[in-house]
Amino acid sequence: MIKTIEWVDGVVRMIDQTRLPTEKVFVDCRTIEEVSLAIKTMIIRGAPAIGVAAAMGVSLGAEEILAEDFAGFYSQLEKKCAELARSRPTAVNLAWGIARMKRVASDNKDLALPDLKKRLRRESQTICDEDIAANQAMGAFGQTLIADGNNVLTHCNAGALATAGFGTALGVIRASVNAGKKISVLANETRPFLQGARLTVWELMEDNIPVKLITDSMAGHFMQKKQVDVVVVGADRIAANGDVANKIGTYMVAILAKNHNIPFYVAAPISTLDLSLASGEEIPIEERSADEVTTINNKRMAPEGAMVAHPAFDITPHQLVTAIITDKGIALPPFTETLKKLAG
Ligand code: MRU
Repeated sequence: MIKTIEWVDGVVRMIDQTRLPTEKVFVDCRTIEEVSLAIKTMIIRGAPAIGVAAAMGVSLGAEEILAEDFAGFYSQLEKKCAELARSRPTAVNLAWGIARMKRVASDNKDLALPDLKKRLRRESQTICDEDIAANQAMGAFGQTLIADGNNVLTHCNAGALATAGFGTALGVIRASVNAGKKISVLANETRPFLQGARLTVWELMEDNIPVKLITDSMAGHFMQKKQVDVVVVGADRIAANGDVANKIGTYMVAILAKNHNIPFYVAAPISTLDLSLASGEEIPIEERSADEVTTINNKRMAPEGAMVAHPAFDITPHQLVTAIITDKGIALPPFTETLKKLAG
């Protein structure tokens, strides 16, 4: 599997997810500003991958700082981090990755600045490694919910490309396959940015996991025809009550699943929990450029001047969620209690 993001000779190398699946092109980021731009433009996307990119970006930012002492260093670092934090609003992993790096900086304020910079570089690699381990743990827990022969529907891309590797929702699918279960996947194309069609289908085909691409509007039909046994999706942020922010269209899938008595599982690491928010109502929803809706592959689909709305995420109320699969275990309702317990 191609690496989503890694350190290569002091630069942060990412696969350009805007060009997949037709081209495998890598982008090198040398500054925190370049990482921020890569996040904004979706070269790298998916909540956990954004968290890892943020941590590596902070390390690049730290590297550039010229300061006499820790106080001078930290005040410049804070400014850079504040700018990076504005890249995208919904995935909490961005703020989480930045906060962890800032904490490591202040916990090591007694180090000489060159050593502190090295310490930050190491921490960003640790965050990357921990993400893969968390996805494997999630897979191990999650695969217990998937039966041999299941048809699994997923939305967007919550795979290796959305993480440092293995994936969250697709990690559960990979772990099920690795456990010897025969699994087939229905992948919603996920308009408008087509993460399902471009990324999920590509990833699963690379791994020889049977996958069929459908348009988002076909999900209900296949549920009605009893061709979906279970839904597994990722998350960008989960509030304390279990409300889930994920790619636009997830809510619709959850409603359909409820109507057909199909389990609706959310797979996300603990770093995607935001227990400071009581409910999903408080989660900021990103509004992206109208061009993503009016065009497909730079080809205009709508009349010039058409008015457009483009919320990139929606909130699935916790009542529609059967269970939340985390790297620390599976949370069942009531989520307010179970998530708090798992988060420690
Ligand atoms: O806009 P994106 O592509 O960053 O949105 C990604 C999603 O909504 C994913 O489902 C979510 O981040 C979970 S990724 C493991």
